Amino acid sequence: MFLSAAGGPRLGPAISFAKMPGAKKTGAMLSMLPSVQELRDAFLCDLGLPSSGLGAMNIKARFEDDNTQAALAGSGITCPPLETYAKTLYRYYEDHLDPMKQRPARYRRALTGKTVLVTGSSRGIGLEVAKLAAEAGAKVLLVARDAEKLEAVAEEIRASGGEAHAHAADLSSFDEIDALAEAVLAQHGGVDVLIHNAAHSIRRPIAASVDRFHDYERTMRLNYFAPVRLTLRLLPSLRERGGTISHVLTMGVLIPGPYFAAYLATKAALDAFGDSLMAELQHEGIHVSSVYLSLTKTDMMAPVQEYAGRRDTMTPQRAAMMVLDGVVDRRRRVMTPLGAYFAFGNRITPATTSRILNLLQRAFPADDTPSEFPMEKAFITNAIGGSPF
Ligand SMILES: NC(=O)c1ccc[n+]([C@@H]2O[C@H](COP(=O)([O-])OP(=O)(O)OC[C@H]3O[C@@H](n4cnc5c(N)ncnc54)[C@H](OP(=O)(O)O)[C@@H]3O)[C@@H](O)[C@H]2O)c1
Repeated sequence: MFLSAAGGPRLGPAISFAKMPGAKKTGAMLSMLPSVQELRDAFLCDLGLPSSGLGAMNIKARFEDDNTQAALAGSGITCPPLETYAKTLYRYYEDHLDPMKQRPARYRRALTGKTVLVTGSSRGIGLEVAKLAAEAGAKVLLVARDAEKLEAVAEEIRASGGEAHAHAADLSSFDEIDALAEAVLAQHGGVDVLIHNAAHSIRRPIAASVDRFHDYERTMRLNYFAPVRLTLRLLPSLRERGGTISHVLTMGVLIPGPYFAAYLATKAALDAFGDSLMAELQHEGIHVSSVYLSLTKTDMMAPVQEYAGRRDTMTPQRAAMMVLDGVVDRRRRVMTPLGAYFAFGNRITPATTSRILNLLQRAFPADDTPSEFPMEKAFITNAIGGSPF
């Protein structure tokens, strides 16, 4: 009833695993193994369910209304059937109790008193992440190149009652990363949350990059080597505190399209580094959250004229919430429903996905060559307000 009130799918008949021969005994034995418990918790986390709710799954609920019926006897008033007001109850839950709508409280519970370092926090998504974290009571360490802008952001956060410290650094320089880590450890003792957000994106077809190997080097330096180096420098402190590392990635990692070869490879590399970190250190309390953002209205997308009319962009505030949801709920991967759909499609039908992307690239050439598929181009442009790449 509540599922249908929430607009959920219709379910088929339930399968009772407990009724399968030997299932109960095997299940009970397996659930005693510590490794199975960890695996169960991870699976429930993927489904967005608390492990504390597991014990209640097979409880047959029966609500007694004997006292109510007795009180109403002879009054002419009867209890309405649940079907008639399930929707109202659900609306109440949605408006007042849904944890996804309780962001400020959730963020406060997880971040108050924590030290959160955000790279690229002078503008765009990083700025919004820093402001939200400070609002939630975190001590925020701001990192970007522009010292003046960074100090202005720190000032703004302090003026609204938060705590922020500016640490200007060019993350393309390994020496500056080392100096930054040293300053952070000396002045703040370490970090609880490390958000790798600073990055540089380049939109250029591979065929137009034959003399531009440096594009691949410089994006790798800022987007991959910098976060890896900073993580390594701060790792002892993160291990001590059971810290969280957030990798701000792009939906392009889930479905790598044309024109962003240099950029996408750096994000895919960072994603792989995050997987290795989790495989090696998760049991110590280290958590890596990978966030696959879609196109977001910031300075980063501004130079691409083809995106000017795009209607499906996210605001930097929305993107920042995706980043912090991953941190506070310790989610392994955060993506939009469309991102999840693309990731799934790319895994199960990789040849089809490659062909679709190649067709789209020919419909939307990066240079002045005419589109091979003008009808498709017009249709897609009309639907999303610009080029998909
Ligand atoms: N915007 C999108 O459509 C989009 C989509 C998917 C994923 N993302 C990802 O989201 C993250 C944030 O993107 P954004 O759109 O907010 O970018 P943005 O508006 O261009 O901001 C980039 C931030 O990084 C800092 N930065 C750049 N180079 C730096 C360097 N060498 N050393 C230190 N800091 C540096 C910038 O400050 P300074 O210039 O002062 O250094 C700025 O604070 C990136 O990881 C990006 O890949 C963005």
